[in-house]
Amino acid sequence: MFGAFLFCIITVMKRNTQKPEGQPTRGKTAANRLRRVDNFILLYEPALLTRTDGLFSDSLFVDLGYGFDARTTLESAVRFRRANATLRILGVEIDKERVEAALPFADEQTFFRLGGFNLPLASGEHVRLIRAFNVLRQYEEKDFAPAYERLAEYVLPGGLMIEGTSTPFGSLWAANLVRCVGAGQWSFEALVFSTNFHAGFDVEEFQTILPKNLIHRVVKGEPIHDFFEAWKRSAAETAAAKTFGLQQWFAASVEALAQKGFDVDRHRKWLGKGYLIWYL
Ligand SMILES: C[S@@+](CC[C@H](N)C(=O)[O-])C[C@H]1O[C@@H](n2cnc3c(N)ncnc32)[C@H](O)[C@@H]1O
Repeated sequence: MFGAFLFCIITVMKRNTQKPEGQPTRGKTAANRLRRVDNFILLYEPALLTRTDGLFSDSLFVDLGYGFDARTTLESAVRFRRANATLRILGVEIDKERVEAALPFADEQTFFRLGGFNLPLASGEHVRLIRAFNVLRQYEEKDFAPAYERLAEYVLPGGLMIEGTSTPFGSLWAANLVRCVGAGQWSFEALVFSTNFHAGFDVEEFQTILPKNLIHRVVKGEPIHDFFEAWKRSAAETAAAKTFGLQQWFAASVEALAQKGFDVDRHRKWLGKGYLIWYL
């Protein structure tokens, strides 16, 4: 009994004293920058936030790299707790001062800890969802796969990671949606693009905010290059729809993309809100 207790204490100590993996980067953030990311998750798989089966009961939503203050984590707490009032939320930062700045906002369900891709979890804690936004953008492409492999170790089978890049106020973003299948295994489920149309609709703008694994790959011979060429062609072919509004044009361009053989979601619930989901 005492041995088991000691083992637990040592495990927690080990996890909390391990060196955070990664590097501190610029901490810029903005109010409601990630609102559309959260709204996307709430629409895509609300059960992920509410399920209580097995290890999902009490499992965490992790906001990795929340930035110079904790506003994005706290905003998500409000949004997600409308769906699940007891959701436990962990904000992780690799920058010690940013953790200290966030700690006054912690409570029994909201935690802020120093850590990196090797998440600072206590013994018995599990993760249902990781959101990492505008974090890997400042890394090199070679850092992408090891970071995903490490993060996936913590996510419950069936859980998700959403990792991507946005414009400064979040009006445009692109993200990898990754399904974890257990034991650090994961697979790309979709590439998601989002726009609130505040900056108009220009397919090329999405190229500038691609996730780290894709941003240097928009070159001939790469699938992401073919995708963008086809989407640009589709937008040109459907430009007449612009007269009915940017949402209509966006939706028509995605319809045309589907007709070219791309597995994109054509449901109005996505297109009408400015989300393009490309299933991989
Ligand atoms: C640009 S801010 C993004 C803030 C917020 N997620 C947003 O999108 O507005 C990136 C933050 O990620 C943190 N960061 C970078 N690498 C990290 C890692 N491996 N683990 C935890 N935090 C990390 C940086 O210290 C920085 O504060």
